[in-house]
Amino acid sequence: MTDEIKSKDAASGSGGMETTGHVWDGIEELNTPLPRWWLWTLYACIIWAVGYMIVMPAVPFPTSDGWDYTKGLAGYSQRDVVRGEVAKSEASRAIFENRIASADLAEIRNDEDLLAVSLAGGAAAFGDNCAPCHGSGAQGFTGFPNLNDDDWIWGGSLDDIYQTIAHGIRWEEDDDTRYSEMPKFGVDEILEPADISDVVQFVLSLSASEHNAEQAVRGAVVFEDQCSACHGESGQGDRTMGAPNLNDALWLYGGDEAAITQTVTQARYGVMPAWQGRLGDATVKELALYVHALGGGE
Ligand code: HEC
Ligand code: HEC
Repeated sequence: MTDEIKSKDAASGSGGMETTGHVWDGIEELNTPLPRWWLWTLYACIIWAVGYMIVMPAVPFPTSDGWDYTKGLAGYSQRDVVRGEVAKSEASRAIFENRIASADLAEIRNDEDLLAVSLAGGAAAFGDNCAPCHGSGAQGFTGFPNLNDDDWIWGGSLDDIYQTIAHGIRWEEDDDTRYSEMPKFGVDEILEPADISDVVQFVLSLSASEHNAEQAVRGAVVFEDQCSACHGESGQGDRTMGAPNLNDALWLYGGDEAAITQTVTQARYGVMPAWQGRLGDATVKELALYVHALGGGE
């Protein structure tokens, strides 16, 4: 067959559509042009790409000391954009920091925006600095108080909490630290072991725990003499001394006979660092507001 015949055959079998003239095993190849919209889109993309390369940073090229790239006419740089955004957010954070630093706690609490920023900042600072001792949910551990409940050793008002955080507890590097010291009744031989045993039974009786009633009667006398100055006549505690309430069933160091005996024998001397010097006053305010808002604030 000649080419001419072949293409005639093809034309006749193609239903009148243009073919390329190629036939394989009786199947003809149609010559369908690309749709117009498709072509124009392609041309537009090419023009756009060329324009983009001229205006924006685009083509990398090697130089004697590493790689460089065409900077583009618009002078756009993602790095500058990020730098600008970081600076902007730092500036707005700084505005809040300054306002928090210069406002007092009550003012911050009454300002919705400042309070929201403070609580968020306080939560972050708590996770970084306080969670190791107080727990990530501020639930506390033995020896490290729970900060969610309304059982406060040193006080639960905003100002009390601020003072505690700013200056710490028994933190010797801070002159304004909260300070008191329970005597080591056993170690320093202030009380006989028998007296200690009695007063422990009395302390157990205060929170209606199981106790030896006979010993507790004797222990009441020891308590009156040795303990009530700090823990109060009826064991209700004294915040100015940081002496915990012994009537409730909430214990910092444990409320069973062994734990109380250990407390009375050697005392505990719980220490908390001062934070003002380390974190700055604004952050301490944020922390005080955060802790106060945990649920136990007064
Ligand atoms: C190294 C461990 C440690 C770290 C870290 C620590 N604390 Fe404390 N905190 C303590 C101890 C121990 C006490 C209880 C001291 C005592 O009175 O016997 C305490 C007590 C407190 C109290 C007083 C509770 C009350 O009942 O009066 C507050 C409030 C407090 N901490 C807040 C914080 C905040 C906020 C941070 C983080 C900035 C923090 N603490 C970090 C150990 C720590
Ligand atoms: C000078 C004041 C002071 C005196 C006196 C004192 N305490 Fe304390 N007591 C404290 C302080 C402060 C704490 C907090 C623990 C610490 O040192 O971190 C405490 C803690 C305790 C606790 C632990 C409470 C808990 O929640 O785990 C018990 C129990 C206790 N005292 C019993 C006694 C008894 C009994 C006496 C008398 C024999 C006594 N205290 C005398 C100041 C005092």
